[in-house]
Amino acid sequence: MYALITGASSGIGFECAKILASKGYDLIITARSVDKLNKLSEEIKSTYNKEVVIIPLDISKKENIEELFNKTKDYEIEVVINNAGLGKVGMFNEVTDDEDYNMININVTAMHMVLKHYADTLTKGYILTVASIASFAPGPKMATYYATKNYIRSYAEAIRYELKKMKKDIGITILAPGPVNTNFNDTANVTFTLKGVDANKCANYAIKRMFKKKKFATPKWSVRAATRFMRILPHRTSMRICYKSQSKKQK
Ligand SMILES: NC(=O)c1ccc[n+]([C@@H]2O[C@H](COP(=O)([O-])OP(=O)(O)OC[C@H]3O[C@@H](n4cnc5c(N)ncnc54)[C@H](OP(=O)(O)O)[C@@H]3O)[C@@H](O)[C@H]2O)c1
Repeated sequence: MYALITGASSGIGFECAKILASKGYDLIITARSVDKLNKLSEEIKSTYNKEVVIIPLDISKKENIEELFNKTKDYEIEVVINNAGLGKVGMFNEVTDDEDYNMININVTAMHMVLKHYADTLTKGYILTVASIASFAPGPKMATYYATKNYIRSYAEAIRYELKKMKKDIGITILAPGPVNTNFNDTANVTFTLKGVDANKCANYAIKRMFKKKKFATPKWSVRAATRFMRILPHRTSMRICYKSQSKKQK
């Protein structure tokens, strides 16, 4: 049985790959960094003796997403970790058009199509879609990122509901973490003001919740409490807090 992980070359995806191999899954791993995928594959083969299929690709492009679906169609996939994504901090007009296109192509289009495709083609299994606590409110100074994560959280919740109506045995879990120690901050050009969670701990927690078919996974009780609070706050208050906190984080 296979587990497919997008964005497996680092951070949360990388840790999910190792955990799923330790649980007996063969892996299909994707990202752009072929060297990192090869290294991960060697580690998994030698430590867990599992098969690893590497599909190097830039998931921001439609033809590559289609290639991923085509190349995975003959594998018996039970787990999908829909994870590849990135953020950018700054006022809306400080983020370049190319950066916005890239974020939307990956965090919205690719995540949407991966979730849709495997929710439709898996006979049974588990899909973990990586959103963020940013998925519950608008986020001034990180507006595109927050909007993309709101989109995928909303889409995943609706698909989860529809699958239940269809009586399809596929769990959809939305990972909504606070800061996690990965390469995310370097890409987003931020330094976290809150202490980040270890990526392995985050992945372990998310996978446990996924196998229990829980709707949400948010590691760390303080972040869970903050998320509950954020969800009931009027948006103008949460936006004031977000603007201040992103301003402190911007490098
Ligand atoms: N770290 C946090 O604080 C945090 C908090 C909430 C949510 N998240 C979410 O967690 C997910 C994983 O991020 P991370 O924190 O683990 O960061 P990360 O270490 O930067 O990992 C991002 C992964 O996405 C892949 N990726 C990026 N652009 C890609 C592209 N064009 N095509 C294919 N793969 C691409 C990267 O691989 P290559 O560069 O090799 O392509 C890498 O494997 C993201 O969806 C992020 O929004 C992170």
